[in-house]
Formats: sequence, C-alpha cells, structure tokens
Amino acid sequence: MFTRRRFLEGSLGAVAVMGGCTAEGQNAGTPLPIPELVDARKQNGAIALVAADGEHAFVPGRPARTYGFSAPYLGPVVRVHKGDEVEFTVENRLDRGTTAHWHGVLVPAALDGGPHLLIPPGGIWRPVLKIDQPETTAWYHSHPHGDTGRQVYRGLAGLMIVEDGVGERLGLPRTYGIDDLPIILQDRQLDAEGALVYNNVGPTRMMGMRGNTLVVNGAISPFAKVPRGLVRLRLLNAANARNFDLRFADGRTFHVIASDGGYLPAPIGMTSLIIAPSERFEVLVDFSDGKVAVLETAPDDNMMRGMGGGMMAGMMESVGGELLRFEPHSASAAATHTIPKTLVALATSDPERAIRRRRVSLDMGPAMMRGQGAGGGMRMGGGMGPPMGINGQVYDMGRIDFAPKLGDTEIWEVTPNMMAHPFHVHGVIFNVLSIGGKAPASHLAGGKDTILLNEPAELLMTFTQPATPNFPFMFHCHILEHEDGGMMGQYTTA
Ligand code: C2O
Ligand code: CU
Ligand code: CU
Repeated sequence: MFTRRRFLEGSLGAVAVMGGCTAEGQNAGTPLPIPELVDARKQNGAIALVAADGEHAFVPGRPARTYGFSAPYLGPVVRVHKGDEVEFTVENRLDRGTTAHWHGVLVPAALDGGPHLLIPPGGIWRPVLKIDQPETTAWYHSHPHGDTGRQVYRGLAGLMIVEDGVGERLGLPRTYGIDDLPIILQDRQLDAEGALVYNNVGPTRMMGMRGNTLVVNGAISPFAKVPRGLVRLRLLNAANARNFDLRFADGRTFHVIASDGGYLPAPIGMTSLIIAPSERFEVLVDFSDGKVAVLETAPDDNMMRGMGGGMMAGMMESVGGELLRFEPHSASAAATHTIPKTLVALATSDPERAIRRRRVSLDMGPAMMRGQGAGGGMRMGGGMGPPMGINGQVYDMGRIDFAPKLGDTEIWEVTPNMMAHPFHVHGVIFNVLSIGGKAPASHLAGGKDTILLNEPAELLMTFTQPATPNFPFMFHCHILEHEDGGMMGQYTTA
C-alpha cells in the first residue's frame, strides 16, 4: 500500500532524492548512517558535546546548513552505565543560546538541561550526571524556550543508551551498528536545493512542523546490511510533530521489547506500531529468511479537528512511504536467533499510593480561548491563530504550576484538545493507568515519559528527583511548535 512509488509521488524532492540511485534502487542509494558510539566508560567518564553549525547533504550532492552535537547533523550515540557518574561538557559554538536536555534520564532538575539552563553562545556547561535507572534508550536534544523546534529541526538531537547489564544477560542483540541499530526517525521539508525549510507560521504553528521528506539518521530511504537473524532496532521519533505509523511492507511481525522507561515484561508481537514525537521503542526483527524487508510508515493523520482545522490540515504535509530497507546478507549469521520469552518484571507503583490528582488540559484554539487561567494567562501567541497553553495558561518561565513534594505519588488526568498530543513529563518515568477510560495497549503499559493522547488519560507518577523554583522540571506537549508556543508548564518537588 505504501510503496516506494507512492512515497516519491508524495515527495517534492523526488527527482533530487533519486539522484544517486539506479531505477529500482536495490543495492543503490545511501547506506544507513550509523552515528558514532561514545561510551562513557571508554572516555574515563567524561563526555564532550559541542553544539555547532554544520553542513549535511540530505540529498546527495546538495548540502544543507544544519546544526549538530559534535557532528554535522544530530550527535553521537552516548552510552552510559547505571551506577556511574558521567561528566558532560557541553560547549555552545552557535550564535544563540542552547541547552542539552537528557530526555528520559532521571537526574535532578538543576542538571536536566531544560530552558532554565541556557548555555550562552561561547559558553560551556558541565553537569555531572549520576546514572541511576534501569537499562533503556533515552535521548538528548536542545530545549531553549521558544527556539526548541527550530534547533532540534536543524539537528540538535542524539540517542542516549543507559545500560545495567540486563540486556546482555537476556541475550539480546547488542553489537552496535551490526545487530543493534539506532533508528532516528524524522521528516524534513527540503527545498529544490536540498536545503532545510523551517517556517513556524500559519498551519505549522497550529499543527507543528511537518515535512515532505522522510529521513532516517539523516538519510533519505537508506539501506542497512543486516545479519540473517535477530536485529534490535532502537526506534526514536525525533520529528518535531508527526507520528510514524510503522510496519514492514511484507507485513512481518516484529517484537516490541522496550519503551521509554526500559524493558517490558515480555516481548509483544506486532505488525504495526505508532511512535509519537520523543517516544522510543526497541523492537526485535527477524531477518533469518534472508529476504529484503522495507520499513514503511503510513501518512500521519494527526491533524487539527474542528472549525478551520480541516482547511488547515489540507495545507499540511503528510508523507507516507519507505523509511529504510534492510538487506540481510547471507555471509553473516547473526549471533542471536531466539526471542526471549520473558524480559524484566515491571516496576509499577501502586495507584493506591497516589495522594492527589491533578488536571492537565492541553489547550489550543477555542479550548485555550475558553481557558480559566487565573489573571492574564491569556494572550495571543503571535503569528496566526490563538495561543497554546496548559490549563488555560501560556507557559511562563517564572511561574511554578505544580508543587508536589519529593517522594509523592500522584495521578495526573491529562486531557488533549483539538488533536492528539504527545504529552511528556521531565524527571519521572510514569505508568499509564488508562486512556479513554480503558487500560492502555500492552506495549504502552511499561515505564513511559511520553504518551500520545487523543483521549483523556490517567498517568501515575512518583517524584524522586529534586526540582526547585530556580530549576523546575517541565511538562509539555512534545509537538515542538506547541511547546514553543506555550503548551508547557513547570513543577517543583522541593
Ligand atoms: Cu524531549 Cu522537554 O523534552
Ligand atoms: Cu524531556
Ligand atoms: Cu500538542
């Protein structure tokens, strides 16, 4: 259904995209770029990241101006180990302020890299992170207030792996770049010269930046040579706004083994998987049959509802098609062929321990205009259309919205308005108790830091990390244009 031809039809850059390829493309095109792996233990516990301008050719031969962390585009895969202290050195060589937020890594808010931890141009930030959480795939990205969408779109993002030895004991594929692959999914709007377009106005302001071109690790329709056997994909949706609705062209089953917060109790066989901005899923795919397999996405249907929404939705890009082609090679037998029956017992907290409930309404358009925000929370967000906010209030760096105490367990009742929103909370790994009054699908029942909500949900969380009025934690929609537009709040745990 979502063939290569369909992808090309949907892509304005089609001709240029195919520039380096032969007609039907087998064994042609771009190899999947594998970001450099930087393991903290091989660096004496010190990791340096430099945010700087770069040049990266999404379309071969047509370099675009980009940003990256110690790379022209995106950043290295950073591997850290539970129990270690890791000293990061983040240097800002850009001409404007930036931050480095460790998304999904549980550290005190003063080290979290949110908007309050702006690194000025020429500045250096040195947080020492004590790694203390179960094995998982996290990520890092810039998070300066009002400019996150543009900076991440330009490339300020990378994967981060936390290890505690459990994956090794379970016998999961773990040879980086061979049978353990980072898969960073994005869409980008490229012009005829192959340059990045970013215009946060009009429908983009309302629905988030979408693009005409699908990229994986910065490459368009790349291929990966894989061993014949089980391969682990660490999927990250690092797009600004769109969801990916993943499946293989041949309909094959894959197994989800982990979500944002780490391993699930057991692998879950699936044939399609929706991954929203900032979510991570780890999946095992079996390539023992030696057949070429194409990972595809359906077009994204997450558009604004209601008056005017439909008209604006028609102006949005919604590309489906090929993301990545796997070519198993006969020569290399994979080390791993068996999917473990069970993984790790879930560390869920007990809803009975919740001492309060909070309401969180993700507001935009009419819902925002109706907002009950106390005193002056309302203002036009600039540009076209009404503002974004939470509980009727536009984000304010100087306002603390919630103040639970360290150790408290709470249930947050989160209500999305106008469209589906990927809701993210810093400083916790939460459990989804319900979505639309029902228990979540089993692949969403593990530890999460982001959940795509089209219906009201109940999230159970316990606060274990300190956050103060000077350095609070954020909670926000991870459609970055919604976040930049004010759909964000702050909490402390002091
Ligand atoms: Cu990916 Cu506020 O974070
Ligand atoms: Cu985060
Ligand atoms: Cu949103």
